[in-house]
Amino acid sequence: MPLPALLEGRLKLPVIAAPMFIVSGPDLVIAACKAGIVGAFPALNARPEEVFPQWLDRIEEELAGAPDAAPYAVNLIVNQTNKRLDQDLAVCVAHKVPVVITSMRPPEEVVPAVHAYGGVVLHDVISARHAEKAIEQGVDGIIAVCAGAGGHTGSLNPFALVAEIRRMWKGPLILSGALATGRSVLGALAMGADLAYMGTRFIATEEANANPAHKQMIVETMAKDVLCTSFFSGLQANYLKPSIAASGLDPDALPDKQASYTGRRATDANARPWRDVWGGGHGVGLIDDVPSVAQCVAKLKIEYDEARADFLKAFA
Ligand SMILES: Cc1cc2nc3c(=O)[nH]c(=O)nc-3n(C[C@H](O)[C@H](O)[C@H](O)COP(=O)(O)O)c2cc1C
Repeated sequence: MPLPALLEGRLKLPVIAAPMFIVSGPDLVIAACKAGIVGAFPALNARPEEVFPQWLDRIEEELAGAPDAAPYAVNLIVNQTNKRLDQDLAVCVAHKVPVVITSMRPPEEVVPAVHAYGGVVLHDVISARHAEKAIEQGVDGIIAVCAGAGGHTGSLNPFALVAEIRRMWKGPLILSGALATGRSVLGALAMGADLAYMGTRFIATEEANANPAHKQMIVETMAKDVLCTSFFSGLQANYLKPSIAASGLDPDALPDKQASYTGRRATDANARPWRDVWGGGHGVGLIDDVPSVAQCVAKLKIEYDEARADFLKAFA
């Protein structure tokens, strides 16, 4: 299976620590890259926008001293509400950010700008139709965001979406959604993906910029405690039910979408999605600890190798 040339031979494990609003910053990215997986953060996490190039300076400086480190990635939200897109893209170009991950709209203006300096664009999608559009734009890889992913999610079963995309795309394909163990990483590869995209697993790490109570909730919850709703952001996203309850709302009886904002005020809950109402995917039930990123990746690698050995034995 193919990887972008830029990642070939540079990863200890075929994993991207997925970009997460609030949660991913330089500490997480540096630790992930040093551990041998791609570390990523949304440019919008660096606020105000002048902070973004400062973060990149720090990441580049730290990684320059670690020759075995994996490349890092920046996530750009491509839609009209992102007023920083042009400026953030210019910063990515100036810093020659190795991997740019685009979300939402097809990344028309991003692809030529990133290709001009030799960077790679990965675009996340929730359907084969979206993948087709991104391929037409010339992206280097597709991220299939499937059911059960933390934060904004797709609704399709991964076996279905990966196989549909594989019918038309032989290039790098990355699977996202509820991957939380090394065995899941191997499963993603067996399914036809080249890399695993893991978000929730990295919330519960020392370097994540998440509220400690969010990390603990990831440890304590199971898949049944995850709610998929468009109530908070207008798009389907997976959140941890206890965080919704803690904000004064009943996760099992959210007001309907049309009345949502009135409903929220009626509860006296000033809960802000992501900051107070916490994202998490169906993989939460497999996460029992809050290790350092290095420890987390080392454990994933052991699980991955064990799963691979089991697989080879079973099919020898
Ligand atoms: C708290 C949280 C915030 C997220 N924020 C973003 C974001 O800003 N941009 C983005 O492209 N994806 C975002 N995601 C989605 C992740 O990049 C990734 O698709 C997802 O976490 C993978 O599923 P998993 O959490 O089950 O591993 C977020 C996910 C979570 C859990």
